[in-house]
Amino acid sequence: MLQIGPVQLASNLLLAPIAGHTDIAFRIVCREQGGVGCAYTDLLNSHAILRETTRTLDLARTNEFDQPAGMQLYGNSDDPLPEAACWAVDHGARIVDINMGCPVDKVAKKNGGSLLLRDCGNTTLLAKRIVDTVARHSGGRVPVTAKMRLGWDPEHKVAPILARQLADVGIAAVTVHGRYTVQFFSGTADWNAIGEVVEAVPSIPIIGNGDVSQPEHARDMIRTTGCAGVMIARAALRTPWLFRRAHALLTTGSVAPEPTLVDKLAVVLRHLDLTRQYDGEHRAAIRMRQHIAWYGKSMGHVKPLKEAIRLAKDFASIRLAIEAAQSAFAGSDAVYSDSGRPVAEALLRTGFEDFAKIACIDAGPE
Ligand SMILES: Cc1cc2nc3c(=O)[nH]c(=O)nc-3n(C[C@H](O)[C@H](O)[C@H](O)COP(=O)(O)O)c2cc1C
Repeated sequence: MLQIGPVQLASNLLLAPIAGHTDIAFRIVCREQGGVGCAYTDLLNSHAILRETTRTLDLARTNEFDQPAGMQLYGNSDDPLPEAACWAVDHGARIVDINMGCPVDKVAKKNGGSLLLRDCGNTTLLAKRIVDTVARHSGGRVPVTAKMRLGWDPEHKVAPILARQLADVGIAAVTVHGRYTVQFFSGTADWNAIGEVVEAVPSIPIIGNGDVSQPEHARDMIRTTGCAGVMIARAALRTPWLFRRAHALLTTGSVAPEPTLVDKLAVVLRHLDLTRQYDGEHRAAIRMRQHIAWYGKSMGHVKPLKEAIRLAKDFASIRLAIEAAQSAFAGSDAVYSDSGRPVAEALLRTGFEDFAKIACIDAGPE
C-alpha cells in the first residue's frame, strides 16, 4: 500500500482537491463508500488560513471521520506558506500539499498554482522552506507533498526535473496531472508523460492523475505509468463509489459491482444529510442543487429528479424528491434508468403539489 513519508495509507487511491466540492461532507461520503486512502481539502489561501476567515475555516474543517486528511495550500514565495502549513498541522492535516497546478487566473495570476511551474529554482527553494518548517513543527510526523501539471505548455515539460528537485529537498510524494496548464481540461491526460516522472524520480511515490473515471482506468494508469497511487477528481463527483470498486479490482482482481439506482440515491441522501449536519439546511439545499447534475450523470434518465431538486424551495422538498426517486426503483437491481417516467410518477405520488408540474417535464421515453 501507499506510504507517504511516515503516513501509511490503507489504499493507493486518493480523492483529489476539487475547489467548490471537496468539503468535509463530500469527503466523508467518499470515505464511507470505501477505498479512499486519503482525501484532500479544496485549495486554501495561506493568508486566509492565518486570518482564519469563516470561509477558510469551513474549507479546512476536518474530524475523526475524515482521516487521514490532506490539506492543500496555494501561494508563492512571498506568501506565508510555511506558517499556513503549520496551522494546517495544528488543525488536523496528516499531509500538507502544495498546489502547483491550478490554471485558474485568480490563483495563477498571484504566482501560486501553476505559475510555480515557471520557475523551478524558486519553487524548489519555497518547497524546502515549507518542508523544513513543517518537519520541525510536527516533529517529522506530517509529510509535505506537491501536486503539479506536466508544465506550463508542451515546450516546457518541467514535471520530471521539478519533481526530482522537490524530492531532493524532502517533498514526500508528488501528484502529476497529465496535462499542461494551457490545456486547462481539454484533450486527454498524457499518462506516458506521467510515466516519465515516475522514471525520473524513483525515490518517492509519484501519484498519477487525469481521466480516471472507471475502475479499470485506475489499474491501467498504474500499468502504463508505474505510479504508486492514483488520484481521482471529476469522476468522484459523479460516482463516489468508484474508489471502492477500483480498490476491489486492484486488490482482488475483480471489480466490485456497480451500485443499484436505489443505492446510488441512498448516497445522494447521505450527502444531503451530511451537508445539513455540517453546514445547515440552507447550505445543504444550495449544494445539492449544484451537485445533483454530477450524480445525475451516473443514473441515466432522471431529469424529473434533477428538475425537482433544482426547483425545490427548501431542504425538506429536496429530501422528499430523492426519497420519491428511491421509491420509484425499490426492489429493482437496475443501475441506470432508461426512462424518466418512473421518477416522474413517483414525484406525482408524493402529493406534493410543486412536483406535479415537474413530473410532466420531459419524462422521456416509455
Ligand atoms: C471544478 C474543479 C476544481 C478543482 N480544484 C482543484 C484544487 O482546488 N486543487 C487542485 O490541485 N486541483 C484542482 N482541480 C484539478 C483536479 O484535482 C484534477 O487534477 C483534475 O480534475 C484531473 O483529474 P480528473 O481527470 O480525475 O478530474 C480541480 C478540478 C476541477 C474540475
